[in-house]
Amino acid sequence: MDSATSQQTAEALRYLQVKVPPLLHQPVIGIICGSGLKGLADVVLPEPRFEIPYADIPHFPQSTVHGHASKLLFGILELGALPVVLMVGRVHFYEGHSIQSITFPIRLMKRLGVDTIIVTNAAGGLNEDYGVGDLVVLNDHINLAGLAGIHPLRGPNADDFGVRFPALSDAYDLDLRRRAHHLWKELNRDAGSTRRLQEGTYAFVGGPSYETRAECRMLRSLGADVVGMSTVPEVIVARHCDMKVLAISLVTNKALLEAGPRGDNVHIQGSSRQYLREAIEKGKANHDEVLDAGEKAAREVQVRRRSFNQGVIS
Ligand code: ADE
Repeated sequence: MDSATSQQTAEALRYLQVKVPPLLHQPVIGIICGSGLKGLADVVLPEPRFEIPYADIPHFPQSTVHGHASKLLFGILELGALPVVLMVGRVHFYEGHSIQSITFPIRLMKRLGVDTIIVTNAAGGLNEDYGVGDLVVLNDHINLAGLAGIHPLRGPNADDFGVRFPALSDAYDLDLRRRAHHLWKELNRDAGSTRRLQEGTYAFVGGPSYETRAECRMLRSLGADVVGMSTVPEVIVARHCDMKVLAISLVTNKALLEAGPRGDNVHIQGSSRQYLREAIEKGKANHDEVLDAGEKAAREVQVRRRSFNQGVIS
């Protein structure tokens, strides 16, 4: 058993059980709000609510990224009337935390009583058919860091939480995915959104730099549809302790695959060179663009939150 993990989780749990009002301290749903997606907090009733900054919770990792809020929000989902806990702002591996500590909140949620987790993120679109603003229900992932040994379950197994060798072939719950697609159809019939709901595979990269064009081409050729710097460690730890997982990416920018019509070479001249230069300039990822796209999507969720609550979580 990984006794440090168990002990730290127990300490954080005791702290929350004292602080959080009894009505709210046994959430069954956990939601992780991705970059720019703190507006998802509006799926929770205005009252009763209880917020705790990460900084106050024993052993909880701290976010350092601009634009990422840092609090746990306990509340009741508006129509499902289920108790929920939201991580408003997540902590990332690229901030310097270990891959184990960024997943501490998942085990804490498990101890609180969470059995289903909804993980959201901002991601770069690799699939040529995806546009900025599309949502992607994840059906699989490629854990490049994990394949190379940077894995949240590395080390002594936390037997209290799960088995030594967990299967991940069914990591993304089929029933929850179906419900998400079904609900999306209903919403579109009623509201006519231009946003599309896709389904695809997420590649986890360490960041914080965005990918080079050659890396994007590699990830695409491996079968990834979106790329991002989060989610996969959390999903692995959630599945290890047998939580159901729904994960949704918001495509905030199109990852640039461009190599130019005649390759990517200093010797290319004329219109090919100009074409490549313009494509590279247009396709540069940046953090503000990621946050903007997130905020826009979260506003839309706010408008539709009644249907969202009712359909996905019932
Ligand atoms: N988050 C948003 N866009 C991203 C990208 N292109 N790569 C990694 N993480 C991202």
